[in-house]
Amino acid sequence: MALLGHNSDMNSIAKQQLPIGVFDSGVGGLTVLKALREELPNEDLIYLGDTARLPYGTKSPASISRYACQATRLLQDRDIKLLVVACNTASAVALDELRAQMHPLPVIGVVGPGASAAVNACPAGRHLVLATEATVRLGAYRRAIVELDPAAEVTELACEMLVSLAEEGWSNGAIADAIVARYVAELGEAAAAADSVILGCTHFPLLREPIAGAFAPDISLVDSASTTAVVAAEMLASLNLRNPAERPGALQLLATDGATRFARVGGWFLGTNLTAEDVDLVDL
Ligand code: DGL
Repeated sequence: MALLGHNSDMNSIAKQQLPIGVFDSGVGGLTVLKALREELPNEDLIYLGDTARLPYGTKSPASISRYACQATRLLQDRDIKLLVVACNTASAVALDELRAQMHPLPVIGVVGPGASAAVNACPAGRHLVLATEATVRLGAYRRAIVELDPAAEVTELACEMLVSLAEEGWSNGAIADAIVARYVAELGEAAAAADSVILGCTHFPLLREPIAGAFAPDISLVDSASTTAVVAAEMLASLNLRNPAERPGALQLLATDGATRFARVGGWFLGTNLTAEDVDLVDL
């Protein structure tokens, strides 16, 4: 009996020491990775950017699901204890499928935490959601927000070109300002009436400056990164899966193409100097 108890303690310590898997179509999910590192500094993290198949946002739901399931499979093969889908598009399209694939291990998407951050910031508010075509087509934020706050009003706008700007590292300056202004013009009066702007694509926090500049100064700019990290911390604690280690967690970066580009933009975003050697190329 004593031996059994000892073995099951060993078992749960071994599980606690497993890494968290995080994926996105590209560098955008690094906004979530950064928040996870701040919230859970002792956890080991594996980040996968499916750069070979970016963007997800213009693809059909069938392709997005297939890509998301393949990315998840790779991370499962690396023995993760929790999957964070750091991509609104994949969260909107494939979250249930990914939960079934990962079962019994937990999966967190970014749409739910983003919606709850917006509702908390502006109860009964008028929310603008900037997202990819697929996320907007599915009305993922509208449903999540209205479920939490039936008095909320939601306007959604697909801004696919902002993904390319973020991937290129052109996140501020005249070109970014002009492209953001072009999208915001499509919103007409809804832009001036809004209480919050939800950055409903994990690439968009990289463009926080030009986006903020296109709206009234008192508007709330909401993204899902920090809320997702808090949800992840709570989930791990409730499942007794927090890593008890006291040293800083390790980070492994994987991409399906373009290690040099990934390192350039990713390093700039994470605030560290990354080179192509820091990024392992993988095939899904
Ligand atoms: N970063 C992604 C999202 O949050 C997707 C960008 C794309 O691949 O279109 O939706």
